[in-house]
Amino acid sequence: MAVIQVDGKDLRYDLNPDPLRKDRLTGVFIHGSGGDRLDWKYQLNGLPDSINVIALDLPGHGRSQGPPAESIEAASQVVKQFIHNLGLERVMVVGCSLGSAIALHLALEGQSWLKGLGLVGAGARLRVLPAILDATLSAPEKAAAMVAHWALSQDADQSLKDELTQKMAQAPERLLHTDLSACNDFDALNRLKTESIKTPAWIIVGEDDKLTPVKYSKFLNDSIKNSRLDILPDAGHLAMIESPVEFNEKFKEFINWAAL
Ligand code: COA
Repeated sequence: MAVIQVDGKDLRYDLNPDPLRKDRLTGVFIHGSGGDRLDWKYQLNGLPDSINVIALDLPGHGRSQGPPAESIEAASQVVKQFIHNLGLERVMVVGCSLGSAIALHLALEGQSWLKGLGLVGAGARLRVLPAILDATLSAPEKAAAMVAHWALSQDADQSLKDELTQKMAQAPERLLHTDLSACNDFDALNRLKTESIKTPAWIIVGEDDKLTPVKYSKFLNDSIKNSRLDILPDAGHLAMIESPVEFNEKFKEFINWAAL
């Protein structure tokens, strides 16, 4: 694990290889609500040698200093600064859920270093079921259990379900509320209808994703000109954990397709 200061706070990240090879494309992987860099453990070592891989703990998550960002815009600024401070010049930002909103926001802003987008369990709008959002304040343990339950496909291994439930329950107080509120406020549906994203985009979603249904990914695929959509059977919202082999295979196919 490595650490870098962003806005005076320590942000922690895993990287492969260490040190990074500056001449190569770097995939910067960003977790979703209540998550951390370990959500990408299967990507850290499972992707082609031709790219660098970084998995970041957003502020207030995992081992990074808080507080967590309260909006997608604020979180995007942190990621932008993180990439700048590392001196990365060719980046593919891959985000899951909340992370995908950050990736979309950066693409809509138009960053010269952004060469590819990865949108996992994504949506141009991420409204949260009021029952979940309310519970993040009134009954945090219940909210954590609900999110863990809905994030995986029905057929996921019980051990994976237990692991995720425990992780969500152990998240710092109010973290899930802050993250899900930021998602709930994110709405780029209209911008995507009128503005064009030129960055090549890989959109991947589990067929059994109940938090960001396949329809949301199809909308992204229709709205982004240079995009490719993969729908993974037997996976839910966290496809990178549930079907890591297929996920990594599809990632490689995208890298080749987009000639990154
Ligand atoms: N991409 C494309 N279409 C979208 C969309 C997206 N990101 N978000 C909403 N829409 C569509 C809906 O499919 C619906 O289309 P329809 O009228 O043709 O059926 C329309 O926009 C209105 O959406 P609706 O779901 O009625 O309202 P909403 O966007 O305000 O959502 C919720 C309210 C919370 C009930 C709904 O978003 C939901 O069930 N979300 C999934 C559960 C959740 O909490 N996810 C967390 C994400 S982090």
